[in-house]
Amino acid sequence: MIRGCFQTMSARRGPVARRPTSKPAKPQPASAHSIEADLKSWRWCDDAPPPRADVAALWAAAQQGTHARRRDFVIETRIADGGAGRVYRGTFRGVPAALKEVRLEGLSVDEPGDAAAPGFFAAVPPARALAEAALLRSLRCPDVVAAVGCFADCGRIFTVLELGTRDLLEVKKAWGRRRAAEDGAAPPACVVPEPAGRAPEDGATVVPEPAACFYAARVLEALAHLHERRIVYGDLKPENVLLLGTHGRPVLCDFDRARDEREPRPRPGGSPEYAPPELLDAGAAGPAGDVYQLGVLLYELLAGATPFKASSVDRTLALVARGAVPPPPAACSRAVAALLAPTASGLLTSKPKLRPRAAALRDRPVFAAARDMDPPELPD
Ligand SMILES: Nc1ncnc2c1ncn2[C@@H]1O[C@H](COP(=O)(O)OP(=O)(O)O)[C@@H](O)[C@H]1O
Ligand SMILES: [Mg+2]
Repeated sequence: MIRGCFQTMSARRGPVARRPTSKPAKPQPASAHSIEADLKSWRWCDDAPPPRADVAALWAAAQQGTHARRRDFVIETRIADGGAGRVYRGTFRGVPAALKEVRLEGLSVDEPGDAAAPGFFAAVPPARALAEAALLRSLRCPDVVAAVGCFADCGRIFTVLELGTRDLLEVKKAWGRRRAAEDGAAPPACVVPEPAGRAPEDGATVVPEPAACFYAARVLEALAHLHERRIVYGDLKPENVLLLGTHGRPVLCDFDRARDEREPRPRPGGSPEYAPPELLDAGAAGPAGDVYQLGVLLYELLAGATPFKASSVDRTLALVARGAVPPPPAACSRAVAALLAPTASGLLTSKPKLRPRAAALRDRPVFAAARDMDPPELPD
């Protein structure tokens, strides 16, 4: 079905005269052309070395041509539908890669039925989609997904990314299933059909602590890199951390909500369980909000659910606002438990000024020791 969608789209790339005469083509807004022209002038991987050795083949493929085009990417399958985009697996100039599709608001003029199609993702203002692509292009960080090209087509923007094997949410669920199987118990009913992982009533962790700390430590590297550049990430959660290769080194993906910290307001939306309290209070969260989200992420990996998991969005937000963080699983080390306590210098304190900065956190032994570990084995 997705292939079909792309075939239709490629056919539409031809001149307007090739469209069926029974359905007159609506004119594309001028900005559609300017976006295409703009993207063609972007250089992606220039002469700079790749940010990681494992991305060298994709990097070299991007350097073969001046800019990415639709025909450079062969789609194999759809990987995911996110809130604002759709992600495909395929090959870019013969190298395995992922393609993120973002539908542009106001430019998808030739498919009036799209918006009503089941599961069709929301359209994004062109400036926002371009901002995400521009930011990814400017980042050369080994802990951020590598992006090597971008093109516009039929009112969409497509970004060519290195291919991840799964995201951290899937990893957490896999650990939850393994624990349930080892204990001979079915996962609790409350975690079906979205098995968040096994609830830690027995005091054990879902993701083993060394693995959870490794993932958090690598994400912290990405956050420190972004904060140094005055970028707030703004949307940390397990779905936005991708694992690469068979063992799984993590990288941060999805920069849809990232913004310059000097921009006054983040975009509305985001995951309620990950909302920093200051976002609810003041409508804005800076780099300290990312540090808080790192705390929620680490907590969720260890405990199987965030500290604020509740039956409705309103209840979740009430828990966040109250800052009532339950203790992490009893099996956690004292260092990790201290990190996750909602007290001064912990990640989850509700006062942003009391949270440590990402750069300072890198020196905490718990992260300094974890970040250079080999990626942990993954459960099936
Ligand atoms: N480069 C990639 N390789 C493999 N899977 C990816 C890649 N990028 C994203 N994904 C998957 O697609 C999902 C949605 O992508 P994301 O960039 O987070 O879009 P959205 O803004 O819609 O949330 C992610 O949660 C992840 O599971
Ligand atoms: Mg996402």
